Amino acid sequence: MVLNEIRSVTQREIAMKSIQLRTEVPGPNSAALMKRREAAVPRGPYHATPVFVARAEGAVIEDVDGNRFLDFAGGIGCLNTGHRPAQVEAAIRQQLEKHLHLCFSVTPYESYVTLAEKLNALAPGNFAKKTLLVNSGAEAVENAVKIARAYTKRPAIIAFNDAFHGRTMMTLALTSKTHPYKCGFEPFPGDVYRLPYAYCYRCSYGLTYPSCAVACANAVEDAFLRIVAAESVAAVIAEPVLGEGGFVAPPKDFFLMLQEICRKHGILFIADEVQSGIGRTGKFFAIEHYGCEPDIITSAKSLGGGLPLAAITGRAEIMDAPAVGGLGGTFGGNPASCAAALAAIDIIENDGLLARSTHLGHKFEQCGKKWTKQFPIIGEVRGLGGMCAIELVKNAATRAPASDETKKLAQYCYEHGLITITAGTYGNVMRILVPLIVTDEQFDEGLDVLEAGLAHVSAGAPRAQLVTSNL
Ligand SMILES: Cc1ncc(COP(=O)(O)O)c(C=O)c1O
Repeated sequence: MVLNEIRSVTQREIAMKSIQLRTEVPGPNSAALMKRREAAVPRGPYHATPVFVARAEGAVIEDVDGNRFLDFAGGIGCLNTGHRPAQVEAAIRQQLEKHLHLCFSVTPYESYVTLAEKLNALAPGNFAKKTLLVNSGAEAVENAVKIARAYTKRPAIIAFNDAFHGRTMMTLALTSKTHPYKCGFEPFPGDVYRLPYAYCYRCSYGLTYPSCAVACANAVEDAFLRIVAAESVAAVIAEPVLGEGGFVAPPKDFFLMLQEICRKHGILFIADEVQSGIGRTGKFFAIEHYGCEPDIITSAKSLGGGLPLAAITGRAEIMDAPAVGGLGGTFGGNPASCAAALAAIDIIENDGLLARSTHLGHKFEQCGKKWTKQFPIIGEVRGLGGMCAIELVKNAATRAPASDETKKLAQYCYEHGLITITAGTYGNVMRILVPLIVTDEQFDEGLDVLEAGLAHVSAGAPRAQLVTSNL
């Protein structure tokens, strides 16, 4: 069968039913591969599921035992345009006919420039912008810090509680969660200061929005007196929606207040859109929901349409601060990744994926409202567009994180053919990063598994008690 026939057969099968489990999971072939993996690969890289993949298409993954799973994790948010979209595949094939790696620093090529132009146009702000391409989210954040320091000639960076910015040494300094990310890898680079994020469900100040007057944004001003002088701060870095930290979208005014404080003190505002960007929330960049114009935006994950690619997009004069040769890397902006990214952005723009993300978000919210009434284990349903989540708690009043139950929920989903990943500092958030090209039928099929999983973990959990007093 030629590739197109295989594709149409697959699509017809998928239209019939997405989840099809033929063996116990993991099946024998996955189990055998896991044995080899354990012998050959360090234990460090974590697996959300123990199944090895044979192929994937759209929102469906088929493992090496012929089991079909619905993918609500999207390779941790890298597949907003789905697994192997035809347009991305064609763009990669066309690129293969021309050339692969050249190194942009040795012999440049057009697709790097075209992609930079595209991202400059898509990033919010009516000012001249420039884009540098690199390989990973962490590398993008590393470069954003370098550029901010080169431009401001200041050392310090302010980051937030529950932030995740990567696993390299500088980005680990910016990342908040200790276990398993930071513990044992110290010391980290200095001059990083951390403040509470606008995580209203678990407000560090014990306040409630809007009567709090967004105290967490104002805390940045206070930090300039108590923690680090404003004139020493190069940048404030924040995720517009916390990713690994649990899909927390701050209230509307948080980022505008932050931006205003930054501008007042000549500090740059870096929006880390590695997880929230590229259409995930219903806007190309999540920060657009807040009416903000960051000085620098980092993006990665879904940018490459399935290939590794990351970008740093910022005000032209800021991006030009490092001297010639001060930025770069061997593989950054690999030609195949650039071709894939241009095709992926085309899909987002032409196939209405921003509206699709909003639609999926609404659907999830509706289900979430229903589930909240049914299952006391649900503490909060939240998100922005297709970047949505539920936070599970043992007790509605104390909000004690239901971390074990969240693990059990993810396990239930996996055993019933739905691949999910969790998040949150306490590991008690079930997050949805489903490819935005998922059909309504597939999304419903996945939500049904999630609902059955919630019923399953709720049945095993003690009924939430209403605590009326903490005394
Ligand atoms: C917001 C954010 N920044 C940075 C990173 C690091 O990206 P990478 O894993 O590609 O280095 C991630 C990864 O999850 C992320 O979510």
